[in-house]
Amino acid sequence: MAQTRRGDGQTALVTGASAGIGVDLAECFASDGYNVILVARTESALRDVADRLAKTFAITATPIAADLGAIGGGQRLADEITKRGLSVDVVVNNAGYGMAGAFNGSDAAEQLGMIDLNDRALVELTHVYWPAMMANGRGGVLNVASTAAFQPGPLMAIYYASKAFVLSFSEALWEEARGTGVKVSCLCPGPTVSKFRERAGTGKTRLSKAGTPMPTMIVARMGYDAWQANQRVAVTGFRNRFTASLVPFLPRRVLLRIVRNLQSPI
Ligand SMILES: NC(=O)c1ccc[n+]([C@@H]2O[C@H](COP(=O)([O-])OP(=O)(O)OC[C@H]3O[C@@H](n4cnc5c(N)ncnc54)[C@H](OP(=O)(O)O)[C@@H]3O)[C@@H](O)[C@H]2O)c1
Repeated sequence: MAQTRRGDGQTALVTGASAGIGVDLAECFASDGYNVILVARTESALRDVADRLAKTFAITATPIAADLGAIGGGQRLADEITKRGLSVDVVVNNAGYGMAGAFNGSDAAEQLGMIDLNDRALVELTHVYWPAMMANGRGGVLNVASTAAFQPGPLMAIYYASKAFVLSFSEALWEEARGTGVKVSCLCPGPTVSKFRERAGTGKTRLSKAGTPMPTMIVARMGYDAWQANQRVAVTGFRNRFTASLVPFLPRRVLLRIVRNLQSPI
């Protein structure tokens, strides 16, 4: 008789699953038997990931191309999922992007787009699936924030603020779900090897030269394990955890200077 796996019969919706951390988060769920719904804008890449995961782990993997940055994109995706007769037990809100540079002179659409994707779509999807999770007392939400969530980020202000929102929202939901069986975790990666840096334009900052980025699978595995353990917050790597733990003890002005310095081009 085939062995049962932790995720058998359940489905995880993973956003940003065409590249980077999202691909490996989807793999973590698939390897434990969860069916996966994979979402991003690039359909061909999603299809490749879906084919690989379905074959390797004998699960159902459904790619759905969608722009979650578009207003109402989360609800449209949920409608499409319903139309296909699929259900969602776990929401993995991973899709996101950053944009480096001073707020002065920045492109308004790019700045507001970060809020739309990193925060608005994340809330929208969580809001759709949360009531059933709470009613059934199972499943949950894994949100991907960043170590940027722990302090303001001069020269990358909106990205840092958008991730502070994700951390705050996730921790509040964790408390609201306490004792229900619904699990909530906020994964806070530090620099990780992915296309993120390319899009964010952070490749030439002091911060980018300050350490070695972590591989995506190590980051994803930490997030997955944290979610399974209902760990409220997971910061990847000792160095990132240590730095984040110092933040509350630093005078705010000093902290702001340090972050500005790290976000400055070399
Ligand atoms: N890499 C890092 O250093 C780092 C550090 C801390 C936190 N994070 C966070 O980790 C998460 C994943 O980032 P990553 O490093 O894996 O970056 P990535 O390689 O750039 O992947 C981003 C994913 O999001 C998808 N995406 C982007 N815009 C989208 C949209 N409008 N609608 C739907 N999907 C969209 C991308 O696919 P398409 O382009 O095909 O849509 C891709 O699958 C993000 O939330 C990021 O803020 C990353």
